[in-house]
This record gives sequence, C-alpha cells and structure tokens, in this order.
Amino acid sequence: MALWPVGIKKFYHYFTSIASFVLLGLSLVLSGCNGDPEVSDQPEDAEDPDTEIGDVSQTALIYRNNCGGCHGQNLISFVEREWTYGNSPEAILTSIQVGYPNNGMPAYGNTFSEQELQGLTDYILSEIEGKTKAMVEAENPDLSGSTASDDLTFRLETLTDEIPGVPWGIAQLPDGAFLITERGGRLFLISTNRELVEVMGLPEIVAEGQGGLLDVVLHPNFENNSYIYLSYTARNPNNASERTTAVARATFSGNSLDQVENIFTALPYLSSSIHYGSRLTFDTDGYLYVSVGDRGNRDAYPQSLDNHLGKIHRIRDDGQIPNDNPFFNVQGAVSSIYTYGTRNPQGLTRHPVTGAIWEGEHGPRGGDEINRLAAGNNYGWPVISYGINYDGTTFTDLTEMAGMEQPIHYWTPSIAPCGMTFLSGDFYGAWENDLFVSSLKFEHLHRLKMDGNTVTGQEELLEGIGRVRDASMGNDGYLYIVVEGPGRLIRLVPEQ
Ligand code: HEC
Repeated sequence: MALWPVGIKKFYHYFTSIASFVLLGLSLVLSGCNGDPEVSDQPEDAEDPDTEIGDVSQTALIYRNNCGGCHGQNLISFVEREWTYGNSPEAILTSIQVGYPNNGMPAYGNTFSEQELQGLTDYILSEIEGKTKAMVEAENPDLSGSTASDDLTFRLETLTDEIPGVPWGIAQLPDGAFLITERGGRLFLISTNRELVEVMGLPEIVAEGQGGLLDVVLHPNFENNSYIYLSYTARNPNNASERTTAVARATFSGNSLDQVENIFTALPYLSSSIHYGSRLTFDTDGYLYVSVGDRGNRDAYPQSLDNHLGKIHRIRDDGQIPNDNPFFNVQGAVSSIYTYGTRNPQGLTRHPVTGAIWEGEHGPRGGDEINRLAAGNNYGWPVISYGINYDGTTFTDLTEMAGMEQPIHYWTPSIAPCGMTFLSGDFYGAWENDLFVSSLKFEHLHRLKMDGNTVTGQEELLEGIGRVRDASMGNDGYLYIVVEGPGRLIRLVPEQ
C-alpha cells in the first residue's frame, strides 16, 4: 500500500502496534467530518520520550495526529489547492497559528512552539511540491486481493472511483443502481452498468465547512411513490450569512428530481458552518429520523428543548409531527424532538432485529459515542461526556448523571465516526448484526462485534483506505462503503 509518504506510512505501522496509552498521549482528536471550532492544545504527556519515534520525523507525527484527520493523511487537501489565505511560508504559518475557527480550522498558536509551526509549514510545502492530485490518488492502496477479518475473508469490488468531491450518503434503488450524495451539493446516480450520471433538480444547497448535501434515503414504499429524502444545508431566506440543517422530499424519476419540497428545517439558523448532523433513517413504522448537531454551540442548544439543535427528530414521511412524540404536549418544546443532548451525530441506523434507532456522534477530543435511542432520552451532551476540550482543559468532570443515558460504546481517542450500519442478512456469517462504523480520522471501517446491545469486541478493517464517509446495507444484501480521495463506492464481497 503506497498510500502515504513513506515516513508517515512507516510511522503508521508503528502507530498501530504501540500501546494505547501512547495513542492517548499523542492524539489530538478531531471531530466532525471537516472541522471543529475548539482550539487544540498539546496534551501534557505528548512530550513523553516514549512518543519519540526513531526514524519518523517529529513533524510528520504532529501532522498525522493533528492535521491529517481533516486535511488527509496524504496531504491531499493541500495538493493543487486554491489557497484562500495564501501559500507563502508566512501565510501558511499564519493560517496554522491563528486558525479559522468559524470555518472549522482550529488555531494552533497556543499548541505548538514557533519551531513546530515552522516545521509544519515546511513539511506541507515540501510534501506537496511538484505533486498533482492525480499523482496522490494513484498512490491509493491496491484494492485487489482478499482481506482477512477475524471471522470472514472478503474482497473489495469498486463500483466507481469517479465520484467527484466528498461522497457522503448511499442509497440503493430497487433496480440495483445507487444514489450517492456529494457534499459539494451534487447527487449522482451510479447506474447498474456503473455509469455516473448527475441527478438534476436539487434544492438550493449551501456547501461550506461541514455543510452541503448530506444524506439520502428512499421512502420505505419507494417502489410505489418514488419519494427520496435528502438532508442538506439550507440558507436562511432572511439572512444570507446564516444556514441550518434541512430535509427535502422529492420524487425521483430517471435523472432528475420533481416535486421538491422542504419538509424539515432545524431552527435557529446560525452563521456557524459546523456540526450539522445529518443522517436520515426510517423506522419500521415509517417514521423518519433526522439527526441535527449542536452547530458548535454546546452550551446554548443541546440541553434545551426549545430549539432543534443537538437533537434527533422524528417526523412523518411528509414532515408532519407525530402526536405521540415524547415532547409533543410539552409547553415550549419543539414537538419533533425524539432525543436530545447530542453533539454532532453523523451516524444513524436501524437495528435489523429490534428495529431500534441507533446513533453515532463525534465527541470533542475523545468521547465519540454510539447510542441506542429511545423516546425522550437525554444523551447528556455537554453535561456528561467522555471527551475533553481540544485545548486539554475539561468542560465537565462528569461522565454520568441520573436522567442521562450512557453510551453503548465510546471511543477515546476519537475515531471520528461518520455513517454507520448494522450488518443484516446472512451473506456475511459471523458479521451478522455487528455494527460497522466509518472512520474519518483513521481512514478505516470499524467493526463493533455485538451480542444484542452489548459490544463484545472491535476490529479495524481496510486501514488506510481513505476517509470512509458512510457504510450502508444495500437492498441486494451487500455491505457498501463510500470513501473519498478519489470518491469511491465499494462493495464488500464475502469469500467462502
Ligand atoms: C478539524 C479540522 C481541521 C484540522 C484538525 C486542521 N485543519 Fe487546517 N483547515 C481546516 C479547514 C476547514 C480549513 C479551511 C478554512 C477556511 O477556508 O477558512 C483549513 C485551512 C487550513 C489552512 C489554510 C488553507 C488556505 O486555503 O489558505 C492551512 C495552512 C491549514 N489549514 C493547515 C493545517 C495544519 C498544519 C493543521 C494541523 C496542525 C490543520 N490545518 C488542522 C480544517 C482543519
């Protein structure tokens, strides 16, 4: 796998084998698919001599732990970049130092020494010199051959590697074709003969920061009504600098959408460009669940029921609010709320046996969570959390409290979990009913081995494949993932 520059790759192999306490010490954990507002800081034990790794430059290490989760471990986001703030050494150093927290770029001025900042600047410039995106993408791993997991051997089948931009959501149509969202604001149809066609007629989408076109799901009765649902970032009609998470319903016919109708808008609109959520999933009764993040305002929204942010919502297929929702009759509460106390939920899926809706969310630094949702529950953000601030300070000493739910599972350090699915069907033997979670930060597919609602083990699959944005069961019984850089739709095929 010639995936990363040699030094980083070597480090990576070392990295996977060193003890987890070193991991803890090293990792400044990122969250969000694209950024987080909190300012990072060096963890105290980062100076621990154990973290000095022989032949790998300290700067590559700093890059890997702090920057690669957002900018690509192969630095792809800097290659052939149209620089917003300039690419002179001074301009880059300034960008790293001051950050652009509103756009998801943390400030590192208090985290690294002058020398380290200079080192990062030189590292970026020297690593990208003379490189094109095509060259970096050509370094992608060889996807042929078999992969052995603990309980299953499988191979990968790439249906397309031509999705431009950041693929985010997957929905398979009854005829076997796929709809894939691209965060930049486009919807693609991957036909059964693997041609990529852009679907027209989308609502106006604001693609900025972590926002853009997010998830896509089909109506449970799609074969009769042709309805699809898109979650996306919508602009405030009354204030162009503000946006929010919204859901549109449309009919899909061939290559375009018709009867596009907004059926959900999370309020308030804010100027923040982070923590939108937003996954969609239907339950077995035909209600649609919509995940909405806290928009980086943890103290204002997630614990208060008078707004839509930091919540999971439950609505009818036409956007109306079911009157058996937990807060339907509560004065002053938003009636679509199903659960609350959530940070940035980019995973939402239905359990194939129990039908319960499960949610995955990015923690701050550490504390990524998997939760099993039940009506009216409070998942505690930010009152209880297993994470800490990016600057190493804590915002809460509490990890549990009466009236607040514990996660089924949490990750510290974070893996930056995005889309997720339970494995259903019987093609995959021992994988059945396990939870597969995409990891942005470590660029792998994370398997949580499950016994009912209990995690019994974990496994990292396809390490280094690229940022995995979604994992989804096709209605053909196969497990699919979408990966960026280049944008690929990949089927995992079990080998007998
Ligand atoms: C949490 C995600 C995240 C992390 C972590 C992160 N960045 Fe960024 N970075 C961004 C985003 C988003 C932007 C674009 C900001 C904008 O356009 O205003 C950006 C912009 C930049 C820019 C300016 C690019 C330009 O177009 O002018 C530089 C340089 C940069 N980052 C370097 C780094 C380095 C070095 C690190 C690690 C020390 C790092 N970043 C960590 C998200 C991140």
